[in-house]
Amino acid sequence: MDISFKISQIKRGFDVFRQICINCHSLKLFKLMDLLKLGYTHKQAALLVKKYRLIDYFKLPYKSAIQARRFNNGALPPDLSLVTKYRTFQWIYDLLTGYGNTLIRNESNLYQNKGLEQGWTAMRPPLAYGCIKSNFYAPHSIHQYSRDVIGFLDWVSEPWLTIRQRLTIPILSSLFITGLMLTNSLIKNNNKPSNNYIRKPQCLD
Ligand code: HEC
Repeated sequence: MDISFKISQIKRGFDVFRQICINCHSLKLFKLMDLLKLGYTHKQAALLVKKYRLIDYFKLPYKSAIQARRFNNGALPPDLSLVTKYRTFQWIYDLLTGYGNTLIRNESNLYQNKGLEQGWTAMRPPLAYGCIKSNFYAPHSIHQYSRDVIGFLDWVSEPWLTIRQRLTIPILSSLFITGLMLTNSLIKNNNKPSNNYIRKPQCLD
């Protein structure tokens, strides 16, 4: 499964989350203030999350767990902050993309989902072609939305790794390696007999 950690993917994934998943799931480990780490300014972040304040997190959007279950066919939508830690990317991707073109429900009103081993879930199909409003250029497909939202959720699950750190680690290590190579070649050159060293003529006055 190809999940990049480009900021643009995480931002698109946030668009998916705030427009769709937020209607049923909570995201307790994600402070909206964390949007600043994605490069949004205070003002932009506030516009994105509208009725929330930046010190808030996304709570379960129901009055109680009982109400949440009532709206979801008896199932409680789990908090998604750590979902990429206890499920694989592939598992989540298969779930989000597994509904098929015709919606089938069984006698207990569960939706058919080919991504799941048991084949049925209480989650209403959350994604559809073109259902996300986004300023980013990317295909408007269920597959793309799924990848993006997984990228976002995985970023949420590691709040101690800011984007800058995710970028700096590879950059620093490549600088380190270049440094080693340079030092190495300098040492080699210094050991060479300097037979081609031409002394500059000195000015005698
Ligand atoms: C209409 C409400 C609703 C929406 C919208 C919704 N979900 Fe769900 N989701 C549920 C419910 C209910 C469950 C529990 C399903 C079950 O137990 O059968 C669930 C389960 C899940 C699970 C499985 C968690 C686990 O480990 O079992 C994942 C992952 C998930 N949702 C991701 C998402 C994402 C990502 C979005 C946004 C694109 C989303 N959901 C939108 C209601 C919703």
